[in-house]
Amino acid sequence: MSELLAGWKRTHFCGQIGLEDCGKEAVMMGWVQVRRDLGAVIFVDLRDKTGLGQVVFDKSLCRHFDKAEQIRSEYVIAVQGVIRPRSPETVNPNMVTGQVELKATDIKVLSASETPPFEIDDDTAVNETLRLKYRYLDLRRPSMQSNLFLRSKVCSIVRNFLAENGFTEIETPILCKSTPEGARDYLVPSRVHEGEFYALPQSPQLFKQILMVSGMDRYYQIARCFRDEDLRADRQPEFTQIDMELSFVEENDVMEVNERLMARIFKECLGYEMSLPLKRITWQEAMDKYGSDKPDLRFGLEMVDVSDLVKDTEFKAFAGAVAAGGSVRAINAKGCVNILARREIDALGEFVKTFKAKGLAWISLKEEGIQSAITKFFTPEQTDAIIKRLDGQTGDILFFIADSKNEIVYKALGELRLRLGKRLDLIDKNDFKFCWVTEFPLLEYSEEEQRLVAVHHPFTSPMDEDLSLLDTDPLRARAKAYDMVLNGVELGGGSIRIHVADVQEKMFQLIGLDEQTAHERFGYLLNAFRYGVPPHGGLAFGLDRLVMLLAGKDSIRDVIAFPKVQNASCLMTDAPTPVDDKQLRELHIRVDKRHD
Ligand code: AMO
Ligand code: AMP
Repeated sequence: MSELLAGWKRTHFCGQIGLEDCGKEAVMMGWVQVRRDLGAVIFVDLRDKTGLGQVVFDKSLCRHFDKAEQIRSEYVIAVQGVIRPRSPETVNPNMVTGQVELKATDIKVLSASETPPFEIDDDTAVNETLRLKYRYLDLRRPSMQSNLFLRSKVCSIVRNFLAENGFTEIETPILCKSTPEGARDYLVPSRVHEGEFYALPQSPQLFKQILMVSGMDRYYQIARCFRDEDLRADRQPEFTQIDMELSFVEENDVMEVNERLMARIFKECLGYEMSLPLKRITWQEAMDKYGSDKPDLRFGLEMVDVSDLVKDTEFKAFAGAVAAGGSVRAINAKGCVNILARREIDALGEFVKTFKAKGLAWISLKEEGIQSAITKFFTPEQTDAIIKRLDGQTGDILFFIADSKNEIVYKALGELRLRLGKRLDLIDKNDFKFCWVTEFPLLEYSEEEQRLVAVHHPFTSPMDEDLSLLDTDPLRARAKAYDMVLNGVELGGGSIRIHVADVQEKMFQLIGLDEQTAHERFGYLLNAFRYGVPPHGGLAFGLDRLVMLLAGKDSIRDVIAFPKVQNASCLMTDAPTPVDDKQLRELHIRVDKRHD
């Protein structure tokens, strides 16, 4: 029963008819949201990307009325008619177009629909597996459509802004050379070169640096990146970066342009005025206060170091941690003595253990006196000093974590801080708290690989004042790197790159890359650098994360048209799938099905 358009032209979108259109002949096309059949009169809410409009089929006025009797939810129809005001008693104040309706004179049924597996509206809760399997139906829902419209709007703002600021959009290859530094690569076998593989780009990093050598001055790209990582709510195996690189710049230049870009996006998308320049905090300060390099600044509960106060106490867990080079840090959960019952505090103790903390000590400052399992190890003066340092008052609970490894204290107490922030309702969901995190460490020690590795990537420049540390104490050297953080999410990050050959060599030495290996992996960049390199630096934002925060969502899956699930498969297409033997043979690949 599918009919052709046969010359019919849409004149109005369903969600945009209003009183100003009354009296006009109109043709609307869309999907049937609901149909109410009153016998001689049939009402239909018709939906397109702009919203809903009501259509009325009156048996005495409408040609082919029998077709209106057959249509069901999600049928695609075209209706010809006249837009009329609704009678006062039928005006629907809850509908944007609720003052008018299209009085049908003719109808075409363009396509029928089976009964969909869930209702196409925002009110019905549907499990995500079903939504992703029928993503084409899920994307019909108004909220999903508005997420994708928002994403498109962000991209056009980015393009306009960057073009105004002297950037050139340049595409870089998807079939690349594998560089096993960073996340795991997705590999693509070569048919022509037996036994050889391309890698999908984890980011356009080296290409964009080479474009600076090429004199492009300022590059950008809305670039797809591929990383074979474990997935989370804010991580997909393929995701999109707003990627850029600039020549003849230092940190402040890159940060300044990007603050203005972000301010433009927030203003145009949400009407939100960001106040510039953004707050900056050093990596060290972020770790010390929030236990995280992507701090959520929407609430306090800042961490306090009490190592000096407890190092000589009788409490071995505390004194021992400090003696072993670690620390003891604490959070004052203000006024929550009567909110957190003992059972819940015990649960928090279990929670921090999932981040490798050995325990969670606490001091509860009750009306009737101090309650704690640890104060018996302290002298009254020591207890007083700790309470004073944490500004403890009656009604507060002080939480402590000690460990010989500072990373564990930071991580566990940082996670406790986030959990308490949520539990105590300290987070204003409508607030946007931006900051730059700067002065990241250049290197870190990888237990797994038993060597130093670059925190950002090996082309990130050390800070000028720390250059000499590369020879004496490389782990203390800081990088010219910066991350933009919003509400506890790393929106983007970048750095000023090394453009001086001997610093680059030093860096490779430190991470244990000998000259030959460095050349095998990055030879094309190093060769390019022999022919005149401008000082340069850049940054990449995670577009998916940015749109997620703008849309007020908790998962980037809600702002990606066709995302993958936890195990990196696509529920709609079933990718990945086995392939024909013929395809494999051409690629010189034999699959070993044994699971060992
Ligand atoms: P980085 O690896 O920090 O930097 O990535 C930049 C931004 O991309 C986003 N992002 C992700 N989003 C979704 N899923 C993922 N798996 C994922 N991984 C990263 C984050 C992150 O801040 N070439 C450098 C940038 C540079 O130095 O210029 C780079 O890729 O929001
Ligand atoms: P214990 O004397 O071992 O029973 O510990 C007393 C309290 O201190 C318990 O609440 C433990 O959870 C806590 N505790 C033990 N080790 C640590 C640690 N490393 N950091 C913080 N609290 C700890």
